[in-house]
Amino acid sequence: MFIEILLGLLRCCIITALIPVIFVVIILPFFSAFFLPTIRSIHILPQFPTTTNDGLWKCVDERSGKIGVWHILPSSLSLHYRKNGIQPSDEEMAEQLARDDNRVILYAHGNSFDRTMEHRVHLYNVLAKLDFHIIAFDYRGYGDSEGSPTEEGIVSDTRTMYEYVKAQVGQKTIFVWGHSMGTGVSTKVVMDLSMEGSPPRGLILESPFNNLHDAIVNHPLFIIFCWMNEFFVQNFLMKPLNRVGLHMETDARIANVTCPILILHAQDDETLPVKLGRRLRDSALTANRTVDYVEFEASRRFGHKYIHKAKELPEVVRSFIRKCDVMAS
Ligand SMILES: *[C@@H]1O[C@H](CO)[C@@H](O)[C@H](O)[C@H]1NC(C)=O
Ligand SMILES: *[C@@H]1O[C@H](CO)[C@@H](O)[C@H](O)[C@H]1NC(C)=O
Repeated sequence: MFIEILLGLLRCCIITALIPVIFVVIILPFFSAFFLPTIRSIHILPQFPTTTNDGLWKCVDERSGKIGVWHILPSSLSLHYRKNGIQPSDEEMAEQLARDDNRVILYAHGNSFDRTMEHRVHLYNVLAKLDFHIIAFDYRGYGDSEGSPTEEGIVSDTRTMYEYVKAQVGQKTIFVWGHSMGTGVSTKVVMDLSMEGSPPRGLILESPFNNLHDAIVNHPLFIIFCWMNEFFVQNFLMKPLNRVGLHMETDARIANVTCPILILHAQDDETLPVKLGRRLRDSALTANRTVDYVEFEASRRFGHKYIHKAKELPEVVRSFIRKCDVMAS
């Protein structure tokens, strides 16, 4: 009897003691992951992208302040400049965006650091070779952008950038590319645009997740708390996150996206496991959306952020673009 009470007490103590640990190990990293990019430094470029402009594009919105932006030229154009030893001015860059017939990708990056991260730069180079203009920016509080991030804020910054680019390029086709956390952000923006009746030409989601709940319970750190039942997950994890404005319900939002969607996911992704990408694809299919899904073998070790290394990526993107063109015509 006595022993049982003692054991019961002990069990209670352990569970009570675990609650602060949950906050430290799961909730804090999630908060800091989304809200406090602790190091706001600009990285030294590992490999100078095929751009001629590494400056700050001022895109002033009264609420969000300055947004740091790169405009990366299509390879053909930047080669032309380089061959002639010309460093185009920001004005000329903007004119190029408005003048030629190339397409534009608006790139919404993942949570860590800023638009200068090496794996992102490699992707810009792959896309520039496909003759895209790339507009890569930092959300508020990231990189050299002003302010501090919230889900609503970074969604609004992405929308601001989209409108800015659209005003620059006129009727030209814009594609939105999101990676990791950026897939949640860009799906929300593209959903809003779709519901307003003017979606972009296409949406590309690299290493996405279906919703915040699944991203948390499938996070490698969550293993320690696998004893948590749905009640605990809802009350100790989801509610605090929802309360501060984090929803990231991409699976619900993707159902309202009317342009074609391309999902890319590597089987050995440990940050956001591939089953989250598959679930997102299934949500899109259930809603009868046009979705292409490409999965990369684990043996190729692309993980969470190296899909740019796939030799077939240019062809995957090209054929998706062709499909978008057909759908739009
Ligand atoms: C999708 O569109 C429907 C119909 O307009 C709307 O009721 C629903 O709330 C939208 N979904 C999301 C996640 O906003
Ligand atoms: C999707 O299409 C199928 C067959 O055309 C139809 O039966 C189903 O109701 C549609 N689902 C939605 C969510 O529109």
